[in-house]
Amino acid sequence: MIALKSKREIEIMRDCGRIVAEVLAEVGQKCRAGVTTLELDRAAAAATAKKGAVAAFKGYRGYPASLCTSVNHQVVHGIPGDYVVKEGDIVSIDFGVLYRGYYGDSAITVGIPPVAADTARLLEVTEQCLYRGIAEMLPGNHLSDIGRAIQTHAESAGFSLVREFGGHGIGRKMHEDPMVLNYVTGGRGIRLKTGLVLAVEPMVNQGGKEVEILADGWTVVTCDRSPSAHFEHTIAVTDNGPEILTQTAG
Ligand code: MF3
Ligand code: CO
Repeated sequence: MIALKSKREIEIMRDCGRIVAEVLAEVGQKCRAGVTTLELDRAAAAATAKKGAVAAFKGYRGYPASLCTSVNHQVVHGIPGDYVVKEGDIVSIDFGVLYRGYYGDSAITVGIPPVAADTARLLEVTEQCLYRGIAEMLPGNHLSDIGRAIQTHAESAGFSLVREFGGHGIGRKMHEDPMVLNYVTGGRGIRLKTGLVLAVEPMVNQGGKEVEILADGWTVVTCDRSPSAHFEHTIAVTDNGPEILTQTAG
């Protein structure tokens, strides 16, 4: 069942999304050579508490942290720990909060200079994929328009799209209907309407599309261990077009 949001609900989700964006920006700043992923997690937890929100991932199906930190060939759901970030790494930082009854969810991938040229291009293209997907979030378009835009851009750049994970509806629950595929399957999918709120999150690999889950039960990695990038926003479909909710006020 798809729960469309009222203007009032979207106002709350805008506040929620701003908190996500502010914490993510703060953590992104701290993501430099020498920091551990656990230190990033602690910074996120402290910033979240200060803003009166609750970190959404911690405790979700037993997940142990506030952030997902996925380095290099890790695609998503990497668990923060004693890993020391180093020059040349790319670090996906995925973060969500619960605030006044609603969820917001966003991710960035940060490159620690100097990043190899083809990997820097992977980051650029993956972020562009997110924005191309978002641009399709217009009333009257179909869900598959988002996936088509993402897939076309990633594959025309010579990269591959992860199939096993995708985006989702979001609101009173972190994961709501519909599932948002980052590729096309054949059907057009539902028609997009004002009040639909989605988390769109392309995961793009530099090498092959195949992924596997490590023995920790969470960390998703590329089978060929090639680098992978991930960007995510929470976005509302409005009469005036897509509104990105997970952005800072400025
Ligand atoms: N952005 C991820 C998602 O939408 C966050 C879930 S990670 C988990 O699925 F740890 F909470 F599971
Ligand atoms: Co998500």
